[in-house]
Amino acid sequence: RMYKRQTICRRDIDNLNVPFLAIYESLIPPEEEKVKQTQLLALLKKLVSKEWPEAQLYIYGSCANSFGVSKSDIDICLAIEEANMEKSDILMKLADILQSDNLQNVQALTRARVPIVKLMDPATGISCDICINNLLAVVNTKLLWDYAQIDARLRQLAFIIKHWAKSRGVNETYHGTLSSYAYVLMCIHFLQQRRPAILPCLQEMESTYSVKVDNVNCAYFDKVRTLADFGRPNKETIAQLVWGFFYYWAYCHDYANSVISVRTGSIISKREKDWTRRVGNDRHLICIEDPFEISHDLGRVVDKRSIKVLREEFERAADIMQYDPNPCVKLFEPY
Ligand code: CTP
Ligand code: MG
Repeated sequence: RMYKRQTICRRDIDNLNVPFLAIYESLIPPEEEKVKQTQLLALLKKLVSKEWPEAQLYIYGSCANSFGVSKSDIDICLAIEEANMEKSDILMKLADILQSDNLQNVQALTRARVPIVKLMDPATGISCDICINNLLAVVNTKLLWDYAQIDARLRQLAFIIKHWAKSRGVNETYHGTLSSYAYVLMCIHFLQQRRPAILPCLQEMESTYSVKVDNVNCAYFDKVRTLADFGRPNKETIAQLVWGFFYYWAYCHDYANSVISVRTGSIISKREKDWTRRVGNDRHLICIEDPFEISHDLGRVVDKRSIKVLREEFERAADIMQYDPNPCVKLFEPY
């Protein structure tokens, strides 16, 4: 397959840095939100430990991986060893424990794909979802956080891409588009692929952090403070990277044969992963390998209809970045 040649991007591209950075800044959660999250977590810990003194609560997802925008819900994981209790019973009991205090709308959703307890804290206005023993999510949250420490452009790019995806309605897994987690992995992969690279591949480096979770070995180099200068030789600006990101997914990615892989810091082939045909509901129309659960394709939610929507959105965005006089407005126009 032939790729379109990389065209030269607009000459005035760097005029877009200021408006993009302003959008990024406006999305950062203010300090008082973080304080409220910590307060709510402390309250939940107190209530849970009365019933289960050994249990742990971890924040994961966007409130802990540094890719959370203002007013995000919090994702919490209850780590508990209850050998003789069904997960759904744990959730019912958890809902019960939390109900008794002054929390609102405490609901156990035991039949959801990922069973959770949902609640809202009227004191802070924060909603949260609590799942049970999803420790791989806690570990991949740390991996994302560690990547964000290496080069500031990752967080900027990911905020802008997530904001774009939400504005354009392509951040809804139940409609066949991609999760925020998938978009952040796409950003990490993209920055690993720049030349010179803006991010290293932490899982290919000597591991300084290693845990075994659900029979998966999760190991990587996590002394990221030593990598603070890694991205320096690459001088690309945020506007160039946003343009490059969309251009890649619009015109350069080989959807028929390629899998993007943060784990290896490279592109690997669908054939190698045996992701060449539909198995059950997994169609592998866009392939994003989970860094730890490597049999997981985060693109598995994408179907024949939504792949078209996604690719048209990537093309629209790339074309706006190339030609539109006012890309910062047009890009985020509600669909
Ligand atoms: N997660 C996962 N596997 C998936 C989807 C999500 O392990 N297929 C975990 C990841 O740890 C992710 C967390 O669940 O960080 C939350 O996922 P998601 O809601 O997609 O991302 P957030 O970062 O919370 O984004 P948002 O700000 O949109 O809530
Ligand atoms: Mg979330």
